[in-house]
Amino acid sequence: MTLFPFIIRIFALKIVVMNAIFTKSIVDWYAENQRKLPWRETKLPYAIWISEIILQQTRVAQGYDYYLRFMQRFPTVQNLASASEDEVLLMWQGLGYYSRARNLHKAARQIVEMGGFPSDYTAILALPGIGEYTAAAISSFAYGLPHAVLDGNVFRVLSRYFGVDTPIDSTQGKKLFRALADEMLDRNDSATYNQAIMDFGALVCTPHASCSSCPLSETCAAFRTNTVDELPVKSHVTKVRPRHLIYLYICVDGKILLHRRGEGDIWQGLYEPVLLELKADEQESFAERLCSLFPDVVLLDKGRKHQLSHQLLIADFYVLNATSPAEVSEKIAQLFPADSLSKDFFWTPETSLDEYASPRLLLEFYKKRSLCR
Ligand code: ADE
Repeated sequence: MTLFPFIIRIFALKIVVMNAIFTKSIVDWYAENQRKLPWRETKLPYAIWISEIILQQTRVAQGYDYYLRFMQRFPTVQNLASASEDEVLLMWQGLGYYSRARNLHKAARQIVEMGGFPSDYTAILALPGIGEYTAAAISSFAYGLPHAVLDGNVFRVLSRYFGVDTPIDSTQGKKLFRALADEMLDRNDSATYNQAIMDFGALVCTPHASCSSCPLSETCAAFRTNTVDELPVKSHVTKVRPRHLIYLYICVDGKILLHRRGEGDIWQGLYEPVLLELKADEQESFAERLCSLFPDVVLLDKGRKHQLSHQLLIADFYVLNATSPAEVSEKIAQLFPADSLSKDFFWTPETSLDEYASPRLLLEFYKKRSLCR
């Protein structure tokens, strides 16, 4: 009789036991340490959906108040569907990644047309703005379906605990971590397990974790091999493109010139003053021409940095006062004749500025004071 099959069986059993230890430890930790959060007190798919979209690229501390305000203004999917896109963007103002808000709005209209929130994974996944992670979160939290979440937190926890150094953004890595995440899921209570592993990644197994207080450190592969800081591995670094923006906040009789940003760039659907994008070496000569045309121009802020996921915005913000819209048109045409003001600019009282959804970068300029003379 050969011992070989016997050894394989023992080995397989050991893996099953280790996996069960992992899942149980995570769930036990959560029972003691979970954060009390409003979206965890409900089974309503609409509320869970809103919270998960907010939390897609946003930390809990920042998203918390947005969630409460959003739910207060749009308590049901019908309320959201019947609002205007402008109003939804205004509620989202400052949160970034504005396509999330536009997709929420689009999806709300689809859900109302479908007659209610879908209750199976595939139909949830088909909604605009919902990827595998969010579909797994909603279907487990709202309906108890056995789908494991896999986001940045979960990649970190799994790669470290099991000592997996396959890049998480490679095809092989995605398959491997998907299989591992599915295997660890507690199918009897997918909601609790999913919340637990996310909280564990957010609170204990953090990017710069201190493992001394971690209840899983004894069985953690990365802790044992001193590779916690090296995991997870990513094969591509995100390239960040710098962009130099010049904003011209133009005032005539207490009114300012705004427009709504179009498709194909950041901040679609948000409002902004006249914008010019220059190369770094064009800025000085531009500033000189600007000063000669508008001698009392005020440079409110220069070189203010605003980091987006793939772009670093570097913005100058000028305040200009003129006596008439005609003067503005004429001078703007001299300033940048190639693309003088497009037709979609409009004048609006400076006092109504807070009715227009604006990117956070601009809110930082606006909040300083009333800017027109
Ligand atoms: N991040 C994403 N989803 C979350 C949730 N439901 N609770 C806490 N943090 C989260």
